[in-house]
Amino acid sequence: MDFNAFILVLLGIGPWGHRPDFDRENDARPGISREPDTALGNSWQPDRYLQRIHSLDSVPRPGSDAMMVRNPDPAVDALVTAYPEIFRQPPQERTSVKLLVTGGAGYIGSVVAHQLVDAGHEVVILDDLSTGFPANLPPRATFHELSIHRVADVLTPAAGFDGVLHFAAKIEVAESVANPEKYWWNNIEGSLALLRAVRAAGTPRLIFSSTGSMYTGDGSTPFDESAEVRPANPYAATKATVDLMIAGECGASELGAASLRYFNASGAVATGDTHLGERHEPESHLIPILLQAAAGQRDSFTLYGTDYPTPDGTCIRDYVHVADLAAAHLLALEAIRPGEYEVYNLGNGSGYSNRQVLDTVREVTGRDFPVHYGPRRPGDPAVCVAASGKAGTRLGWKPQRPDLADIVSDAWEFHRSVHGD
Ligand SMILES: NC(=O)c1ccc[n+]([C@@H]2O[C@H](COP(=O)([O-])OP(=O)(O)OC[C@H]3O[C@@H](n4cnc5c(N)ncnc54)[C@H](O)[C@@H]3O)[C@@H](O)[C@H]2O)c1
Repeated sequence: MDFNAFILVLLGIGPWGHRPDFDRENDARPGISREPDTALGNSWQPDRYLQRIHSLDSVPRPGSDAMMVRNPDPAVDALVTAYPEIFRQPPQERTSVKLLVTGGAGYIGSVVAHQLVDAGHEVVILDDLSTGFPANLPPRATFHELSIHRVADVLTPAAGFDGVLHFAAKIEVAESVANPEKYWWNNIEGSLALLRAVRAAGTPRLIFSSTGSMYTGDGSTPFDESAEVRPANPYAATKATVDLMIAGECGASELGAASLRYFNASGAVATGDTHLGERHEPESHLIPILLQAAAGQRDSFTLYGTDYPTPDGTCIRDYVHVADLAAAHLLALEAIRPGEYEVYNLGNGSGYSNRQVLDTVREVTGRDFPVHYGPRRPGDPAVCVAASGKAGTRLGWKPQRPDLADIVSDAWEFHRSVHGD
């Protein structure tokens, strides 16, 4: 059975888009208003939307650096300088766009939520705090501690959301292999609940956190958006499934959406007194694991696989700074068009080997620790690097902090802010 057929069987649906509860007629159900109740409205009105974008554009832009929001964190400051149009200081009279961020207490979602607030938007966060942290929430955001399955309680037709950024998900590959149902329930059924609410509310825009790990080719060339999708584990399968679900929804309604396929999110940012960085339990990502070893919180580090067909024999991955990933969300929000669905791969386009990451962590932290060498792990491709040309040309996205030493140094700052030295 091919992948699409598998997904359709999994979801229990037939041909694309034909689900009675998703039919257009349902928009006229009593109690579901298509009337806008905010400046932009919760119903899709392309002309008004374009007008609104123009009015946002016509807001006077800062003429000099002195008017720009300067941030002492180099990761944030680089973005403010690179994308003045999305980080300009909003004047009082500007009406903000209202956005729902699911999973906004987590690592990537919280960085995006902070950037959205900084860009002058009204942000509402839904998160069940299963892996997120209240300390990550931006002070000026509204927070609902709620499961994604109950998103319709918040994303109501009357709430007037202009868009949704959907980060809420379980993300542990090993756990997904051991307990796939947990992943079907959280990531697929949770996203289905979201799509139903989006449809009922007439929310015009959706950005989804997808993953580059669904590409499992041999990595001999960087993966662009046309690379074969062949998920190697249930986690990646949930992301590929939700991508297809969203594509179907855009084909069947006026929803405009983008799936952003991140490669290895990494690094951290400091905004005010808040440090936002990677904190997963158990930690399965390379850089934070190495930092734990550097900080003496692990006795040693095990490097799996030293006989890959790469220059130093270890796997090569594409590390992209979380602040750069976050900026792509703001750019994608502005680029979304009604009824259209786009996929963007987000990475730096140049990989670093596990051994290079290990050396960089030792260099940046100035700490040494014992390293063991283990066999290859099943399902680990030799090379996984993004071709992000589409995000560059269509969104104007260009990573501002691509250097591995900078990424590790920001992550180390975060690590020390949370765990001490
Ligand atoms: N970290 C990466 O390298 C990476 C790479 C590719 C894609 N992604 C995707 O990006 C998104 C964010 O990942 P992250 O690294 O920030 O993970 P994270 O675990 O830090 O954040 C996920 C957030 O979602 C919340 N959440 C989980 N299940 C929920 C549910 N059922 N209802 C409500 N909230 C729920 C968690 O409490 C958490 O705050 C995920 O969708 C993930 O699949 C991450």
